[in-house]
Amino acid sequence: MKLLFCCSAFLLLLFLDPRVCQGGNILVMPTEGSHWINMDFLLQALHSRGHNVTIVLSNKSWYIKDNSSYYTAYTVQMDRYLDKVLNTKLFSDYIEFERGALPLSSFLHMTVGMFSLFIDVHRIVGEFVSAVLDEQELMRKLKDSKFDLLLTDPCWGAGVILAKYLNLPLVYNVRWLIATEGHLAIAPSPISYIPITGSGNTDKMSFHQRVQNMVLHLITQSQNYLVGKLVYQPISDKYLGPNYDFNELILDAEIWLMRVDFAFEYPRPTMPNVVYMGGFQCTPAKPLPQDLEDFVQSSGEHGVIIMSMGTFVSELPADMTNEIAAAFAKLPQKVIWRHKGNRPATLGNNTLIVDWMPQNDLLGHPKTKLFVAHGGTNGVQEAVYHGVPVVGLPIFFDQYDNLLRLKERGGAKLLEIKTVDKDNNFLNAIQEVLIDPSYRLNMQRFSRLHRDQPIEPLNNALFWIEFVMRHKGAAHLKSQSYRLPWYSYYSVDVVLFLAAAVLFVFLIIFILVRCLYTAMCKPKLKRD
Ligand SMILES: *[C@@H]1O[C@H](CO)[C@@H](O)[C@H](O)[C@H]1NC(C)=O
Ligand SMILES: *[C@@H]1O[C@H](CO)[C@@H](O)[C@H](O)[C@H]1NC(C)=O
Ligand SMILES: *[C@@H]1O[C@H](CO)[C@@H](O)[C@H](O)[C@H]1NC(C)=O
Ligand SMILES: *[C@@H]1O[C@H](CO)[C@@H](O)[C@H](O)[C@H]1NC(C)=O
Repeated sequence: MKLLFCCSAFLLLLFLDPRVCQGGNILVMPTEGSHWINMDFLLQALHSRGHNVTIVLSNKSWYIKDNSSYYTAYTVQMDRYLDKVLNTKLFSDYIEFERGALPLSSFLHMTVGMFSLFIDVHRIVGEFVSAVLDEQELMRKLKDSKFDLLLTDPCWGAGVILAKYLNLPLVYNVRWLIATEGHLAIAPSPISYIPITGSGNTDKMSFHQRVQNMVLHLITQSQNYLVGKLVYQPISDKYLGPNYDFNELILDAEIWLMRVDFAFEYPRPTMPNVVYMGGFQCTPAKPLPQDLEDFVQSSGEHGVIIMSMGTFVSELPADMTNEIAAAFAKLPQKVIWRHKGNRPATLGNNTLIVDWMPQNDLLGHPKTKLFVAHGGTNGVQEAVYHGVPVVGLPIFFDQYDNLLRLKERGGAKLLEIKTVDKDNNFLNAIQEVLIDPSYRLNMQRFSRLHRDQPIEPLNNALFWIEFVMRHKGAAHLKSQSYRLPWYSYYSVDVVLFLAAAVLFVFLIIFILVRCLYTAMCKPKLKRD
């Protein structure tokens, strides 16, 4: 009886709450690597809200499963995929280069040298979306499915083209838009106090840092523009017709679900259709598997340290892993280290090497004292959520900049990958963060700031996805800025016009005065 009452009360609630959606139909164009981890989390949440989720993937996909209990997957056959250009060797080569490099060559290597690799990755993404669009049977199914929206991560351009082709409202799960941070693409972004990712700057910059920031800004913006023009524009021309500018299309999303918040990101201007969901993938810790729990408990009062270098960098150079293992072996703590590749020779008996670990649950465990991280967004946000201090070993991309935001708040110590194995740097950093209580207190303060929000980030994201379904878009929140060429956006044309008009008026006045002057002076001359 009571149960029945509960059920009917619940049903009543469902009917009364106008915001509860009929199950929607969502098409997802995913991105590989660590970006899939947080997209996957969002898809599970959408599924549990009663939405039908469909994804399209390559038959050579790395992490994305083609069978799942919470989404339908369509697979397209591809002859080549990312492993052609992105392999573990690439990353260890990169680290080797960094260890010998001077700052300028390191900068050039990152910005110019990596660009051809970057183009190659996007060419393969282009081949992926072309393969999808060429598959007529699949496209017919997708058209018949009557999707409400397309959800994608715009660090790859595939979803943008598919959404336009199917004429679907576009929702982004975003931090990066091809080469640039998402905000820089749509929101006003004064470079004087907004640090460009990769610059290692904060929001307080000296003149020298502002020059560096501007140079990097110009480089990344050109890279963004070039990838759009060289890689995606031909595909857009072929499948959508010649009337679309890809670099404009990519800015035309309804809602941008941004994977940061202002506890983490520096304050900056934003837009009405940008929704913040930083840390949406963090949840209270679930119980660990029994063997892992036993290992953690065996650490006693000393607690555990966990280390992970993310999905891409599973292998570090051997001499480096030996040094790290030797440092761990000297500690009284237990260590859980996510590491693939050869077992380091110097491994101590307090260190457990694993292929994979439930990182969020471990970070939320009361015995966890320290996180050794490479600075990927997912891991950094989990550390913030659980208030665990960090020793950072950034390698590339946004990793240094992510960790810098923790360091600025006194919650992390950063090491350079090229000197991590010198002078006991690694051991000293770990001991400092373990012994000095300020690191933990600062991270806990950071965590409280991050968690103190009117609506949980995941629920905020779900609300806005359903909002787009209910209203078939969010046109009233989209500014028209993306339609404007840069000279109109910055009103350069108007300023030039007004300057010309003022100049013209002055010229007229000057000519008039001159005429008047000569007219008045001439009789004088005659009189003389
Ligand atoms: C969910 O999506 C799949 C694939 O598009 C489709 O076959 C199926 O009918 C959909 N289910 C519902 C309940 O809409
Ligand atoms: C997917 O396929 C794999 C291998 O065939 C299987 O082990 C797994 O249980 C499947 N998962 C689901 C959700 O069906
Ligand atoms: C993917 O499709 C290509 C092209 O049809 C085929 O050669 C390849 O073996 C497939 N790969 C996998 C892992 O299924
Ligand atoms: C681990 O190694 C240390 C030092 O070599 C030794 O004292 C200790 O007994 C070892 N512990 C176990 C559980 O083997």
